[in-house]
Amino acid sequence: MTENIQNILLTEQQLQKKVEELGAKISADYQGKKLLMVSVLKGSVVFMADLMRHVTIPCEIDFMSVKSYGNDTKSSGEVRITKDLDRRIEGYDLLIVEDILDSGRTLSYLRQVLFARHPASIRICTLLDKPDRREAKDVAADYVGFVIPDAFVVGYGLDYAEKYRNLPYVGIVTP
Ligand code: IMP
Ligand code: MG
Repeated sequence: MTENIQNILLTEQQLQKKVEELGAKISADYQGKKLLMVSVLKGSVVFMADLMRHVTIPCEIDFMSVKSYGNDTKSSGEVRITKDLDRRIEGYDLLIVEDILDSGRTLSYLRQVLFARHPASIRICTLLDKPDRREAKDVAADYVGFVIPDAFVVGYGLDYAEKYRNLPYVGIVTP
């Protein structure tokens, strides 16, 4: 499975250390708030599962799935909800947990949809950020694990054609 991995960008140790730091920051910032962590399927499941175990304050979780049309390595900007949240979010302090912020179109759309449901607040936590590729200029993450260069990465939840999600590290895949 690993023969197409050009090189490892983030090791398992680097990822775990960062996730621990983010969990501590979130726990401090959301003290006394009604925290609802919203994982965007499927890419963020691994990050979400690790991150929530480093959140030391009461919190709830939920999942959403969106499909952005396009080919395997680039989103077209057209986004559709394929699985919605199970609950009303009014009054909740939402933390959207994403795998990667690329063009920003997915999160721009998602944030707009969720804002209309009157949560108390919305913040974005992304493991990876590729700022060079940003198109939606209104989107920035409040918590960022790693800023990475413009390369297609896989592992730790991220896929290429649904493969490689189970790698414990983040690597650059051969085009
Ligand atoms: P955006 O709407 O362009 O920001 O796209 C975000 C989504 O595109 C992410 O949630 C990923 O599913 C996917 N994506 C963007 N860049 C990569 C990458 O380098 N590897 C794997 N998936 C990616
Ligand atoms: Mg994704």
